[in-house]
Order: sequence, then structure tokens, then C-alpha cells
Amino acid sequence: MRKKVTVVGAGNVGASCALRIADKELADVVLVDVMEGVPQGKALDLLESGPVEGYDVSITGANDYAPTENSDVVVITAGFPRKPGMSRDDLLMANYEIVKSATEGAVKYSPNAIIVVVTNPLDAMCYTAHITSKFPKNRVIGMAGVLDTARYRTFIASELNVSMENVSAMVLGGHGDTMVPLVRLTSVSGIPLTELLPQDRIDAIVQRTRDGGAEIVKYLKTGSAFYAPSSSTVEMVESILKDKKKVLPCAALLEGEYGINGLFVGVPCKLGANGIEKIYEISLSGAEQKELNRSAAAVQELVDVLKQKAS
Ligand code: NAI
Ligand code: 2OP
Repeated sequence: MRKKVTVVGAGNVGASCALRIADKELADVVLVDVMEGVPQGKALDLLESGPVEGYDVSITGANDYAPTENSDVVVITAGFPRKPGMSRDDLLMANYEIVKSATEGAVKYSPNAIIVVVTNPLDAMCYTAHITSKFPKNRVIGMAGVLDTARYRTFIASELNVSMENVSAMVLGGHGDTMVPLVRLTSVSGIPLTELLPQDRIDAIVQRTRDGGAEIVKYLKTGSAFYAPSSSTVEMVESILKDKKKVLPCAALLEGEYGINGLFVGVPCKLGANGIEKIYEISLSGAEQKELNRSAAAVQELVDVLKQKAS
């Protein structure tokens, strides 16, 4: 039987996710949005690419959740994007209400789905989807680490003029200024990055990675990135649907791992048919653990605001 993916939010990220899912023929797609006609129009337009691109998936659009019934994966991209000068954190309460209603709508019709959250502020929105859905922790996953790592890998490959495919890396922590690129474990075809670049160039790349989202916002002015975010989301969706068991940095609910409790934070996860099938707890240096703690504290601050305002 064909797999089915619901993408909530038919904006830049959502529509691009639908396009990439169709291109890879991963699943039938239902796009859901509050804007009347927008998900229907984008879905039809995407469907009409099928004969040219050669894909045979069904793509439909809706303003309600009934057509999403029995989805295997629900991707939540609904929400406001960050505007210039706006921090990810400014989005908090507005997107809380949106993610809450998207989760309620989706889980009513797909109680066994795996939820992939994209909406910002990412780690706090994962918490929102988790408490709203009451799904077990393996079925609520946040996308950020794959994107942050893709940016980090891009900048390293450009600096060294080598293939991006050869750069192996992992960015942990929350999706924000405090994210933690693990320089010690970054390599190019097995060669440690620290052997290839001086510390000041590495520091500059780490900083550019941390500012990666803002760099795009500064150019676009009216919105935020969506090509690399949709690629990153669909890599996760593909690993789940095909049970590929890729090891990817994902926002996962931690219950003591890395000394963090009750928070969604980016850590290495194995993604397969059951969602998060394993969280890898690697040993960190003192400095890395300190950075991860700082990042977790930033996530905790947002969750505390949510708990206070939403109660
Ligand atoms: P967009 O503005 O293009 O699309 C958002 C869509 O959500 C709009 O079409 C809007 O009508 C829809 N929407 C609003 N309320 C809704 C509701 N209650 N139910 C269903 N749909 C609703 O924004 P874009 O660029 O697609 O970004 C979406 C979100 O993803 C933003 O919060 C953005 O910050 C976040 N994002 C997160 C990334 C990450 O790494 N986690 C990367 C890129 C974007
Ligand atoms: C990004 O990193 C806006 O979170 C989004 O591009």
C-alpha cells in the first residue's frame, strides 16, 4: 500500500516538502492550510508536474483534516516565518496556538502517525506537539539539526573546495544562536577538520552556521529559508518511510540523556519506521557539554514561557 504524508502549512517550506516528496515518489501527499484555495491550488499545480517529471503520487489540498486520515507521517510547517530583526523566540506564542491546532487536527485522523515538527521556535514547538498529541516520544521529532548541519557542511566544503558529500559532521543543541557544531567530530573523508583548517577559519564557519537562518532572512527580507529546510525535512521523512535507519541530528525529547530532562534538544538519533529508534549518547568534552547545557537552558526558557502563558 502507498504511504501517506500530511504536510500542514502550504507555504514556502510546506509546498517545497510536498514537491520533494513527490519528486522522490515517497508517498501520497495531503497539503493542509487555513488559506482557502492555496493548498488546493498548490497541490494541483504539483500534481500537474507529474507527467513531465514522471512521478505517480497523489497530491491533494484541503482546509480541513478529514482527507489526511491514516497518514503515516505528519509534517507541521504551519506558522509564521521569521521577519528581519525578529528573533526565533518572538514567534513563540503566535506559533504555539497554530501548532497546537495543527496537532489536534492531524492526530484526530492519524493517531498512529509520526509527527515531524518544523515550525519555529523549533524545540518549543516540538514540546507543544508532544503535549498536545500525547504521542510517545519516539513519534514526535523536530527538524533543525539536519538543516544546521547541512549549512555547516556547505561552508566547510566551500572553504576547502571539496565535495560537500565528503564532509561529515553533526550540529547538536537547540535550533538557535546557541546550537553546538561538534568541531572535534567533523571530518572530510575521515581527515579531522582541525588538520585542514586553522582555528580562526573554523571559528568563522561555526559562527556563520549559527547565523545561517538569519543570513537568508537578511537577503529575502520577507521570509526565511525553505529550499534547504525542505530537503532536510524530507531526508528525515524518507528515513522513516523507508525504514532506512539513518543517524541524523534531530530534536528529541530527552529524559536524562546528556544530563537533560524533559526538553526537546537536538541530538544524534536513528530514524526508522518507528520514528526515533535510538538516541545516541556520545561522550562530550567538558566544553561541548557546557555549550549543550547553555543551548538546553535557552530551550528551557522558552518552554517556561509557554507553560506560564498557556496555562
Ligand atoms: P510561510 O509563511 O511561507 O508558510 C506558513 C503557512 O502556514 C502559511 O501558508 C499559512 O497560511 C499557514 N498557516 C498558518 N496558520 C495555520 C494553521 N492554523 N493551520 C494550517 N496552516 C496554517 O512560512 P514558511 O517559510 O513555510 O515557514 C514555516 C515555519 O517553518 C515558520 O515557523 C519558520 O520559521 C519555520 N522554519 C523552520 C525551520 C527549521 O529549521 N526548523 C527552517 C525553515 C522554516
Ligand atoms: C532557518 O534556520 C528560519 O529556522 C529557520 O532558516
